[in-house]
Amino acid sequence: DKGTYPFYMLKEIDEQPAAMRRIVQTYQNDAGELTIDEDIVNAMLASDRIYIIGAGTSMHAGLVGSQLIEQLNGIPVEVHVASEFAYNMPILTEKPFFIFLSQSGETADSRQVLVQLNQLGYDALTITNVKGSTLSREAKYTLLLHVGPEIAVASTKAYTGQIAVMAILADAVRQAQGKAAPFDMGQELSLIANAMETMIDEKDHIHEIATDLFTDKRHAFYIGRGMDYYVSSEAALKLKEISYIQTEGFAGGELKHGTISLVEDGTPVIAFITQQNTAAHTRGNLEETRSRGAQTAVITTEALARETDQIVLPTVNELLTPLVSVVPAQLLAYYASLDRGLDVDKPRNLAKAVTVE
Ligand code: M6R
Repeated sequence: DKGTYPFYMLKEIDEQPAAMRRIVQTYQNDAGELTIDEDIVNAMLASDRIYIIGAGTSMHAGLVGSQLIEQLNGIPVEVHVASEFAYNMPILTEKPFFIFLSQSGETADSRQVLVQLNQLGYDALTITNVKGSTLSREAKYTLLLHVGPEIAVASTKAYTGQIAVMAILADAVRQAQGKAAPFDMGQELSLIANAMETMIDEKDHIHEIATDLFTDKRHAFYIGRGMDYYVSSEAALKLKEISYIQTEGFAGGELKHGTISLVEDGTPVIAFITQQNTAAHTRGNLEETRSRGAQTAVITTEALARETDQIVLPTVNELLTPLVSVVPAQLLAYYASLDRGLDVDKPRNLAKAVTVE
């Protein structure tokens, strides 16, 4: 039931802070420590390379997860689009471990890969929102998102839920590896829930920005580097999927190798600037588009903000910023679709779970 909300998508965006808190509580033991099933942690520890497989938004969550695992655990990670992996399987290492990400647990492209890997005798973990779903039943291990049912076709709380569960998983593996904690994961996820709330409280402001940026526009770009590039890909998918504005998420540095020729007078270009080591470069890339007529906007953190930046997030740990920076992008997409009078929850040609290959 969407209650007083006009669309499920807005309700599900709003539910994210509570979902973050629920995830932390669910994965906490009696002593208040985050824990993950020992067998899953051991399977990760025994692996020389993790392969993350998913489609659409779930694959984008996997990109962020790959950074979490590589940085906290030092295990190499590859992220694959399920429909590509199925027919062009990469050469696997000696001790691979597989993580399937799927909100519904029913995505045929992902299932196809899991069936193949099961036949080859490999173990896999499914991270899903739906208990008893096909991908959960067919994988050896499951971790649930606990974010509540997601109804809108555009995935929001499942994305942040998947990242949070992978963060808790990476933290548990780190502990088992005997590595010192760079920060307290439980505490940081709670701070993130608060930061998400701050963003959600700014919805009216974000609506104004959306109207200003996207009215009568047919194309748009999101840019960023590293983590910010991964969020750009997700932000672009969200916007294109429900507003029908053709949007691409680009690596900031790659723009000048071709794509910048598409920038015209008024083309919206939105930059994510949340990582200290790439902030100056992304600002430079955004400036290059502005000097060619782009209508630019910046999503940044308090720590890196400049006076003229449009959307400023509370500062959280850089590894976890996607959890917060994606929220204004979800809202921008929502309002772009709403302004156009579209059915936000049911974009044309799309199904919530894609059960055909
Ligand atoms: O249920 P899944 O997470 O496996 O679904 C994967 C994609 O179909 C899904 O994320 C899709 O890209 C969303 N509509 C994006 O908002």
